[in-house]
Amino acid sequence: MVTTTSMDDTGDRGSSHDPDWNGHGGHAVITAAVEVDGVSKQFGSTLALDNVSLSVEAGRVLALLGPNGAGKTTLIRILTTLLAPDSGRARIAGLDVQRDPKAIRSLIGLAGQYASVDEMLTGRENLELVGLLYHLERSEYRRRAQDALERMTLTGAGDKPVKTYSGGMRRRLDLAASLIGRPPILFLDEPTTGLDPRTRNGLWQFIEELVAEGTTVLLTTQYMEEAEHLADSIVVLDTGCVVAQGTADELKDQLGGDVLEIRVTDVADLERAATLVAEFGDVVPRLNPDLKEVSLPVKGSAKVLIAAGRALDDSGIALDDLGIRRPSLDDVFLSFTGHRTATGEDADVGGGSVGGSDE
Ligand SMILES: Nc1ncnc2c1ncn2[C@@H]1O[C@H](COP(=O)(O)OP(=O)(O)OP(=O)(O)O)[C@@H](O)[C@H]1O
Ligand SMILES: [Mg+2]
Repeated sequence: MVTTTSMDDTGDRGSSHDPDWNGHGGHAVITAAVEVDGVSKQFGSTLALDNVSLSVEAGRVLALLGPNGAGKTTLIRILTTLLAPDSGRARIAGLDVQRDPKAIRSLIGLAGQYASVDEMLTGRENLELVGLLYHLERSEYRRRAQDALERMTLTGAGDKPVKTYSGGMRRRLDLAASLIGRPPILFLDEPTTGLDPRTRNGLWQFIEELVAEGTTVLLTTQYMEEAEHLADSIVVLDTGCVVAQGTADELKDQLGGDVLEIRVTDVADLERAATLVAEFGDVVPRLNPDLKEVSLPVKGSAKVLIAAGRALDDSGIALDDLGIRRPSLDDVFLSFTGHRTATGEDADVGGGSVGGSDE
């Protein structure tokens, strides 16, 4: 954030939301805000990105969805000029990340996965410092700092030094900092991981407002719900490879079937029920012990429903519910990657405790 947002003499970015990337082309060229073409990156023996291609149109939101180690942060680092790709090309607003890093930095904002803020300064001072780096007027950066503190429910803590903040508060401050300059292209690496639901909803709303004003957003997430809520298009990344991409609806259609859902009466029967119905699907059934549910993407819904009902009945497993439903994005992810995502509600963060509001 502070280190990668603009330090160039480009002034207020309030006017750079139009797709001609004001001041960097001289004439109107409608181009994708983000273009990634066959990018690969290897760390030792780990292929973190394997021939990844995607694009984000100006003013749109793309969610890069993937589990731990999928390569999300690696791609964000390449796009924000912090890391060079081994091969392939990436362009931001038509500018090559390797040839024009300085110009690109004036167009982008980044909230990284791990907060990087100055410990000794207060939250407000950190934000105002970012405003200064953007050459904003004093009254303007003070107003934006206050607004960002409110958005991230940090008003009460705004005048305390960051070294007293919890992990969740640092994260919120880092997000607030990435928003101060109102850059036309925003990269958010797992912006809501570890946030409590209220702050998460506040951030979602803020992102929606920025997008309505023309900001392009590329965000990474492990949460289906977030991708579905915010993104125009979704790229599913798994171990460095794009395994699926499209709108949420397109991804659901690609699954080409429905989902068999079973709710057992006694949670002790869950595993046995899953084993019994496994043969009806191409992937491993998903178990949710909290809901006492097994779900499984299937083709030929009616036949499967009858056969599964019979098999379960023959085995004497008592059911509360048995049915077929349309796939969720989570089912899509499971079917493309063979493993599930985090759910929206059990967010866990390495950074420490997460406060609900002003601590
Ligand atoms: N600097 C590095 N040196 C060595 N290996 C790395 C480095 N950065 C990333 N990797 C490896 O590359 C792969 C992709 O990592 P990356 O951080 O991009 O994943 P991610 O999708 O952001 O995961 P997470 O959800 O945990 O943040 C992982 O296997 C990771 O261990
Ligand atoms: Mg990451």
